Amino acid sequence: MMGKLRILVAVVMFLEMVSTTSLGVVYTESGRVQGKSIRLGSRRHMDVFKGIPFADVPEMFEKPQPHPGWEDVLMATEDKEMCLQLNLLMTDTRGSEDCLYLNIWVPHGRSVSTNLPVMVWIYGGAFLIGDSMGFNILGNNLYSGQEIADKGNVIVVTLGYRVGTLGFLSTGDSSLPGNYGLWDQQAAIAWVHRNIRSFGGDPDNITIFGESAGGASVSFQTLTPHNKGLIKRAISQSGVAFCPWAIERNPRKTAEEIAVRVNCPIDDRMANCLKMTDPAALTMAGPIQVISSPDAPIVYNLVLTAVIDGDFLPDEPSNLFHNAADIDYMAGVNDMDGHLFAAMDLPSINLNLVDTPIDDMKTLLASFTKDKGEAGLEEAYSTYTSTWGTKPSRKDIKKTIVDIETDYIFLVATQAALYRHAANATRGRTYSYLFSEPSRLGGMGRPFPSWMGADHFDDVQYVFGLPFATPLIYWPLHRKLSGYMIAYWTNFAKTGDPNKGDLSVPATWPRFNKTGQQYLEINAQMDQSYVRRKMRMRYVHFWTSILPSLPDVSEESI
Ligand SMILES: *[C@@H]1O[C@H](CO)[C@@H](O)[C@H](O)[C@H]1NC(C)=O
Ligand SMILES: *[C@@H]1O[C@H](CO)[C@@H](O)[C@H](O)[C@H]1NC(C)=O
Ligand SMILES: *[C@@H]1O[C@H](CO)[C@@H](O)[C@H](O)[C@H]1NC(C)=O
Repeated sequence: MMGKLRILVAVVMFLEMVSTTSLGVVYTESGRVQGKSIRLGSRRHMDVFKGIPFADVPEMFEKPQPHPGWEDVLMATEDKEMCLQLNLLMTDTRGSEDCLYLNIWVPHGRSVSTNLPVMVWIYGGAFLIGDSMGFNILGNNLYSGQEIADKGNVIVVTLGYRVGTLGFLSTGDSSLPGNYGLWDQQAAIAWVHRNIRSFGGDPDNITIFGESAGGASVSFQTLTPHNKGLIKRAISQSGVAFCPWAIERNPRKTAEEIAVRVNCPIDDRMANCLKMTDPAALTMAGPIQVISSPDAPIVYNLVLTAVIDGDFLPDEPSNLFHNAADIDYMAGVNDMDGHLFAAMDLPSINLNLVDTPIDDMKTLLASFTKDKGEAGLEEAYSTYTSTWGTKPSRKDIKKTIVDIETDYIFLVATQAALYRHAANATRGRTYSYLFSEPSRLGGMGRPFPSWMGADHFDDVQYVFGLPFATPLIYWPLHRKLSGYMIAYWTNFAKTGDPNKGDLSVPATWPRFNKTGQQYLEINAQMDQSYVRRKMRMRYVHFWTSILPSLPDVSEESI
């Protein structure tokens, strides 16, 4: 009798345990992994896998190689180290060379999920810093996939890739071709394609998304011939391949500067010497000039970036859009994406009681149009002052400076990429947005002026559902906005149409085409009237058509 009771109790306990909907141990190509199962509600569970290796520990300045595999069940429950990089004060390094890992969030309802759409996140950080979890805000990691996965019912993957010197140094030839960080991202995408079915994902339904350098990375991953058939959809937030900072045209110069700093010769022994140098020393030697000014804008300091290496990028991005023709593409910018950069070049823009001289604005414009000399500056100046009255206010000048940086660093390039994608995409769709929720740091008694719009990076917190994860530091309207963005993003990941999917949206977002150039403005107040056309047309026309048609000053002087 007692024996039977014991068996009964054991059976009940067993049922309790298995009533947790979970994948349990998962088989991957390299070995078995087990994550952590968390309970989100009575009929809602999630498996979270942290730190699954998608490649072996990389050799310095080499493409990533397949992982050799493991025997036992790998407990994938701990965050791995970020890729070796400078710390925030740039006084030391942090992280490890052993950093090619990814994290996976898999939501389940009553039964274990199968065939879910997959969203793969590529972090930003100027190709210099960043990691797959993002910094911690009141106990929540910024890039935790939990809210997106739960609300949107999609699998979320976040990946690590090499940054800084170790990710992007290039000698401009075959000795150290560069783009190592992009190869890491590609290896992770290919790993997801090969393995995600075991995690309940649909390998034919993969969307990659990313912001800033991550947005440009997304763009590169769609343009390279090496991802053929792996990516179904892509979202670039504030960064595309056409951005003036995304590709380094003279990588040899930077490689030589680094070589000098680590005491390597700059002749044909340079590559070998660099390969034998301490990785932390190389990371510290990555050139960062934090001091900027209108005649040396911060954007020109981004020199460890992608290169046209004849392999990952066989050609100029504009000649690679046929590779993205089947991919659904969504891209957009924040209405004051340039504010962060403008504030470094001209700190006075944030000081309400201080004038920012018009001459400083002219110097900045001259930097951005320097190839075209005096004629370029004149055209630029008349374009950007055309809406001013006879006497511009302090605010007019400051806002115009932010507009100039937004246009030059992000907005114009994004419009060009959308246009190019729409022209080439035979099957893929194209969607354009402008995110305009005002920065929470703007207003009286706050660091930024009252006219602040959405600064660079402001969109990310809403896409990742931070207002839900850390409700204490947000208002209900932020949760509304976050819900809208998760709906558009995950609907798009499921169907290629941000309006169609499991979640309802506040406005129908029309496709972008060459003639209409429709886009959606996104903020907490939005409704159907936020559908707009031809984003900053006059300025896009200036940078893409008027300015390039002027002769280069170097040509003129010949
Ligand atoms: C498509 O892209 C290629 C380069 O990748 C370009 O040469 C071609 O003109 C584009 N087609 C259209 C219709 O724009
Ligand atoms: C992608 O996922 C959605 C939602 O699960 C599904 O409707 C669709 O058929 C899947 N496949 C493709 C190729 O879109
Ligand atoms: C572009 O979009 C507009 C508005 O949605 C539509 O009326 C027009 O027919 C589209 N043009 C092309 C060439 O698809």
